[in-house]
Amino acid sequence: MKVTVVGAGAVGASCAEYIAIKDFASEVVLLDIKEGFAEGKAMDLMQTASLNGFDTKITGITNDYSVTANSDICVITSGIPRKPGMTREELIGINAGIVRAVSSSLVKHSPNTILIVVSNPMDTMTYLAAKATGLPKHRIIGMGGALDSARFKYRLAEALGAPISDVDGMVLGGHSDTGMIPLTRLATRNSVPVSEFLTTERLEQVKEDTKVGGATLTKLLGTSAWYAPGAAVSGLVQAIACDQKKLFPCSVFLEGEYGMNDICIGVPVILGRNGIEKIVEMNLTDAEKENMLNSAEAVRKTNGLLEL
Ligand code: 2OP
Repeated sequence: MKVTVVGAGAVGASCAEYIAIKDFASEVVLLDIKEGFAEGKAMDLMQTASLNGFDTKITGITNDYSVTANSDICVITSGIPRKPGMTREELIGINAGIVRAVSSSLVKHSPNTILIVVSNPMDTMTYLAAKATGLPKHRIIGMGGALDSARFKYRLAEALGAPISDVDGMVLGGHSDTGMIPLTRLATRNSVPVSEFLTTERLEQVKEDTKVGGATLTKLLGTSAWYAPGAAVSGLVQAIACDQKKLFPCSVFLEGEYGMNDICIGVPVILGRNGIEKIVEMNLTDAEKENMLNSAEAVRKTNGLLEL
């Protein structure tokens, strides 16, 4: 199993690290445009192998896509991260050109790859990668919902005073401060609805804290987060590589599902060796459906800024 991660910045390096530590891939190629940067990160990570007990080989390379040839899974983290006060949508001007070029180069050398897009604005960058590469829809996946759901569970556990392993919950919709839809109605503490423990007001607070999860960290760190994004990507990569058939919310190209067409947005999917093996169409309430439509409208607005 060969995995390529493009972008050796904090998110890309975290992805490579978590993938390696889980020890399911034979090789991870880390590629960056900055001379020597990916080589340095790869060497540093390889020197953790005996300490952390993994055998995955991590190779660093400066912008030579031939080294990525025949990757089973490619992850795109390239582009600029947001600074405090910025929205993810404001990154489109620079990141669209990068994601278009990177996705085309990857697919040229790995025509059978499954592509995972992390660069922001993620739903629009996933849509762009789908259009730029022409890959079938089951092989293009945007990573946002897995991260947002992890942040939702963190906030739920905090509010409940419960261990995170007791908590389950999922976030649908666009990966943006206003577009995320944390499904509080379906969140549970070990199968008991969280509404049995928390007031409507506290749940609203959890929802709001989840939606601005990325922005909160950007303000604290001065740049966007990397540990949870890296861990979320590694979860998707492992589900595919190990054919786990796990359910994650991911940004995927819709053709009629949830009444939407020609858009990538976060919905529940089953991930296995073929990529997206099924889009799960769950029953939503009228309010949740309306939130999905509003979220999609915002994603479409950003998509409209692309030159396709
Ligand atoms: C985040 O929410 C990087 O978009 C990513 O942290």
